Parts: sequence; C-alpha cells; structure tokens
Amino acid sequence: MVKQRVFSGIQPTGNLHLGNYLGALRNWVETQDQFENYFCVVDLHAITAPHNPETLGTDSSTIAALYLASGLDLEHCTIFIQSHVSAHSELAWLLNCITPINWLEDMIQFKEKAIKQGQNVNTGLLDYPVLMAADILLYQADKVPVGEDQKQHLELTRDIAVRFNHQFGKGKTILKLPDPMIRQEGARVMSLTDGTKKMSKSDPSDLSRISLLDPPEAIKNKIKRCKTDAVRGMTFDDPERPECHNLLSLYGLLAGKSKADVAAECLDLGWGQFKPLLTEATIAHLQPIQAKYQEIMAEQGYLESVLKQGREKAEAIAGETLEAVKDALGFSRR
Ligand code: TYM
Repeated sequence: MVKQRVFSGIQPTGNLHLGNYLGALRNWVETQDQFENYFCVVDLHAITAPHNPETLGTDSSTIAALYLASGLDLEHCTIFIQSHVSAHSELAWLLNCITPINWLEDMIQFKEKAIKQGQNVNTGLLDYPVLMAADILLYQADKVPVGEDQKQHLELTRDIAVRFNHQFGKGKTILKLPDPMIRQEGARVMSLTDGTKKMSKSDPSDLSRISLLDPPEAIKNKIKRCKTDAVRGMTFDDPERPECHNLLSLYGLLAGKSKADVAAECLDLGWGQFKPLLTEATIAHLQPIQAKYQEIMAEQGYLESVLKQGREKAEAIAGETLEAVKDALGFSRR
C-alpha cells in the first residue's frame, strides 16, 4: 500500500523548546512509520524577523540534529534544509501572484508579529504563509502535523491550492489539499512565566521556556522560578489557574502518564512537592535526546551527509510539482 505523505517544519530561531517538541516533533516521531515523511528546517522563514547571519547556518544544523536526536528515523523520513531546495522560494513567488493581499493581512500571527516589528514591518513577514503553503504543496502532502497556532496557516494553504487548481488546473488537481494533524495534548504549551501566553522562542525571558538542550541545572532553576499560585492541591480543571493546568499537562506528557493518573497523583500535592516531580520527569525525558544530540554532532560529516541526501530526495519531488505548476501557468519550457 502506498503511504500517505507528511510534511512539516520548524524555524531555526535559536534552540527548540518544549512547545516545539510536544506540539510538533514528538508527534512526528510517534507516527513516522505510518507515513512517508518530509521534515524541513525552515531557514527562509527564520529571516522574516531580525536574525543573526553569524548563527543562522549553525542554528539550522542544530535543529536538524535535534530532529534526529528526538528519534526521527531515516528509514521513514527525509530531513533537509529549506534554503537548499530553491523550488521553495520559486513556488512561493508563483503563489504570491494568485494570493489576495487581504488573505495575508487577516492572519493572526502576522498581526501579532507585526506589532512587535513596529514601524518597519518587512514584506517577508506578510508573505510568510505563502512560503509555508509553497513548502507543503511542493510535496503534495496529505498531512501536516503542527501545533494549534499553525491551524490558520494551513487553512490558507488549502485556500491557495483550491484557488490555483480552479484557475489553472483545467479540471485537474495540480496541488493536493493537505489536512492538518493537530493533537489535543501538547498542541499549546504555555509559558513558564505566564500560563496565559504561549511558550515561544521570541519571548525575551529565557525563564519562560525550557529548551531541549538545557542542562539539568537550568531546567531545575526554571521550574523552581516558574509562576505558581497560592492554592494548595493541583488540578487541571480550574480556569483561574492556567499555570497549574499547563504544568500538570507538561508533567503528564514528559512522564508518559495519562491525565487521569496525573490528576489523581497530584490532587493533594503542594507546589513545593509537585515541582521536584516535574523537574525530574523533564530531565529524565530530555537526557537521552541530549546524549544522542552530542553523538550526532561528534560524528564528523554525518549530519552533512544526511542533509545532502535529504536535499537530493526533496529536490526530485519538489521539482516535479514546480514543473507542473509552471506548465499550468503557461510558462515557456526550458
Ligand atoms: P515554528 O518554528 O514557530 O514552530 C514549529 C512547530 O512548533 C509548534 N509550536 C508549538 N506547539 C505547542 N505549543 C507551543 N507553545 C508551540 N510553539 C510552537 C508550531 O505549531 C509548529 O508546529 N510556520 C511554522 C513553520 C513552517 C511549517 C511549514 C510548518 C514553515 N513551513 C510547513 C508546517 C509545514 C512554525 O510555526 O514554525
């Protein structure tokens, strides 16, 4: 039986945090053997916000190594870097020319990030979702596993594909419509310093997030200093206690325990008793990932060879879609 195709990506803006891991990467690992998978480090997206040219390249390698360290298996997955496959930028341009500006102006993430960029909002930030649509549509992906915050971008991707097929497909489906894959648990991991805000790479406070490569001491310190409340006893169900809900959810996901088990275990605990449990579970979960990461980075040439093979496989598929799109648009053949 032919497997359905999966595509997803993460930006190389600094390190990966628990939101990226629990909302996306962990789910890729869990379902990888059911699908034919393409996982990309989306470095072209990373320059839509101010970035450091000195670290962009090494950050991309770090993320690719973390994909492998978290358990992605090359038997099931193709791993590559977005800017290595020029079809991504090219299809984004072609799709730009059929995407109404007001669709992009309506994107929640654009509005939020534009506020942060202030007076100098760059065109790339507005165009971010078109590049994301190009990423997905190039691989004719069936499924796109992401966190909750990407749902609107996936709806836009489908709208762009429908519009393209309708205007230029002559009755054929040139671009396949992808479905989002959003798991309930972990789809929205919140900040450690404010349980009403998403855990994010762009939060100025490092204390707000746990990164996959944080050493045990840093993890301990961040959990020790995270926001709590004055109530004794832990519950998922009190809307007035967002931090409690978030940290219990993290504990369940990292310790591999069900919500019911966590609720029962923590019902009568005070914060002082709960925090060491969460700390221990987090360190124990991340330890093997960190060890594997060190191994991968120590093996001279290994990562480069993974990314080279990934690029070659990705280029072959992306090239076919790009040709089909250019044909449909009526470009002269080379
Ligand atoms: P990025 O790098 O911002 O996020 C990568 C993935 O992590 C998820 N995520 C979260 N999940 C749960 N809780 C959080 N606090 C949290 N923060 C982030 C995101 O939902 C995402 O799945 N635009 C994409 C990158 C991208 C992409 C693509 C994804 C570019 N092209 C094509 C899928 C397909 C993004 O959000 O990156």
